[in-house]
Amino acid sequence: MKNLFSRPWLRLALIGLGILIALVAMLVGIGLILAQHKADRRMHVAVAAIDVPDDDKSRARGRYLYESRGCADCHAADGGGRVFVDAGDVFLAGPDITGGGRSARYRSQDWVRAVRHGLAPGGRPLRVMPSEDYNRLTDVDLASIVAYVRSLPPRDGAAGELRLPLPARVLYGFGVLDDAADRIDHSLPPEAPVAEAASVAHGRYVAQLCVACHGPGFSGGKIPGAPPDWPASANLTPGEGGVMARYGDAQAFAKMMRGGKRPDGSAITVMPFEALAKMNDTDLEAMRLYLATLPARPAGSR
Ligand code: HEC
Ligand code: HEC
Repeated sequence: MKNLFSRPWLRLALIGLGILIALVAMLVGIGLILAQHKADRRMHVAVAAIDVPDDDKSRARGRYLYESRGCADCHAADGGGRVFVDAGDVFLAGPDITGGGRSARYRSQDWVRAVRHGLAPGGRPLRVMPSEDYNRLTDVDLASIVAYVRSLPPRDGAAGELRLPLPARVLYGFGVLDDAADRIDHSLPPEAPVAEAASVAHGRYVAQLCVACHGPGFSGGKIPGAPPDWPASANLTPGEGGVMARYGDAQAFAKMMRGGKRPDGSAITVMPFEALAKMNDTDLEAMRLYLATLPARPAGSR
């Protein structure tokens, strides 16, 4: 048989393919190095200490927030940490945040830095924790959460575990995917407290929890950094495709938020219903009233 390489077109094609593979390998290598740099960067945000209360009422409020705002989904009801994503090449587990874990040494400022700003005590970014959802917590609510977590019996100190697929790591390196510390406006002062009531003002505060997925303008769309098989989040404004018209009263909205189903019985995916189902009537109704005041925005304009 004639040597394949004696055919010039084939030789060229093979050389081209070789160069392409080398280039891709190089890009992946550079991406991984950049990702390491990005994950190791330090961000310095000035944070003030907060007064952590020591009374049952505050701890009860803290427990309510811990369970209904999602902390328990990733750090477990007992604070000892748990696996919250285990899907093929993605494996994510939240760390122990009781006195048994690293946060045993946290001062109140360190809690503020982690929960509100997505930064570990030395200023390294947390990668997966959705601190952008918690940046708007008032001092009183954040302090209540800390009071509650500190009251939990120490667990075994399990560290968190983050295993992300290669493409996600490379894209993080090149800045296509970011982390919460990138997304947060660290210059905003803490939110001023409003009275807990079925009011638009309180609803605006509670709905900050929905921003990471439904966008700051609540118009929904593709969720940044989400796995490719996740559907777009729904438009919560009265704009094109808006879904809130289905939930015209407090009962209909509460039924959906607690049961995870639309009025036609179909299941709603992705939404963290384990936590959302624990929201009280006041928070739910306040949120529904607030969403009804939003100007119409085209779906996905964030
Ligand atoms: C979607 C999952 C998720 C939710 C929700 C979540 N966390 Fe986390 N949290 C994590 C992960 C994962 C880490 C490990 C660091 C990282 O993200 O890279 C972490 C880290 C932390 C740390 C730093 C612990 C350490 O060892 O330094 C604290 C403190 C913390 N979370 C508190 C909270 C509190 C309080 C809430 C609720 C207001 C909360 N988290 C909600 C996933 C989550
Ligand atoms: C982790 C991301 C995430 C969070 C957090 C989240 N959502 Fe969603 N939401 C989605 C996605 C994705 C969909 C579309 C699901 C589908 O099509 O199966 C959706 C759908 C909806 C729907 C449409 C229901 C219907 O009738 O089709 C409503 C209403 C809604 N979300 C409200 C909220 C509110 C209010 C909050 C905050 C308390 C919130 N969501 C928090 C991701 C999220």
